[in-house]
Amino acid sequence: MKKINIAIDGPAGAGKSTIARALAKDRNMVYVDTGAMYRAIGLYCSRKGMDGTDAAAVEKELDNIEVSLAYENGEQVVYLNGENVNGFIRTPEAGVMASAVSVHTAVRTKLVELQKALAEKTSVVMDGRDIGTVVLPNAEVKIYLTASSAVRAKRRYDELTAKGMECDLAQLQKEIEERDYRDMTREVSPLKKAEDAVELDTSSLSIEEVVEAMQRIVAEKTGE
Ligand code: DC
Repeated sequence: MKKINIAIDGPAGAGKSTIARALAKDRNMVYVDTGAMYRAIGLYCSRKGMDGTDAAAVEKELDNIEVSLAYENGEQVVYLNGENVNGFIRTPEAGVMASAVSVHTAVRTKLVELQKALAEKTSVVMDGRDIGTVVLPNAEVKIYLTASSAVRAKRRYDELTAKGMECDLAQLQKEIEERDYRDMTREVSPLKKAEDAVELDTSSLSIEEVVEAMQRIVAEKTGE
């Protein structure tokens, strides 16, 4: 199979990571979760007690932050200065912090460079907010996944409660809407559909149905 890259963008909770992971597995491609990289930088800042919205403070720390990805037993593992931080970056607080640090140009430049390098080496399914627009503008396939904020909040709620975390559905929806607003209105690389991306609303679809729809899109675009 020739090397191809698949870019998946969309708001928080649209199902990007579940779908991207399934698609990558099915096509024997590497799944790159770029949100995890922003979360790792957010985690570093919150551990230091920093204000993630303070551009100058975050930028000053960037040289002390090394984020890298590895693949262990088929799963992406995020290393923050050599420490496996997968167990710390999935909380709603880490998401809020990630969104805060992701508005800074210096943060984006650092991570986008890393993401481009990964996609150059191998076929990837990469998900995020700016993959089709900025990171991989020449990706063979671009998909923009959406779903209503109520559906996305419910999915996050089910995911977190399944892990035994306590959470409030209305609060989750509010946080998701705030995060959407911040991600879509930020100055640098806001979340938006690339002109040549195919949009897929997953509100009333099962995971299997979304994966099937994506496979059709990929086959159409690549002839494979
Ligand atoms: O996909 P996620 O929820 O793990 O992403 C966490 C935050 O990181 C999200 O609110 C915005 C930011 N992000 C980004 O700005 N660009 C990306 N490519 C991925 C994530």
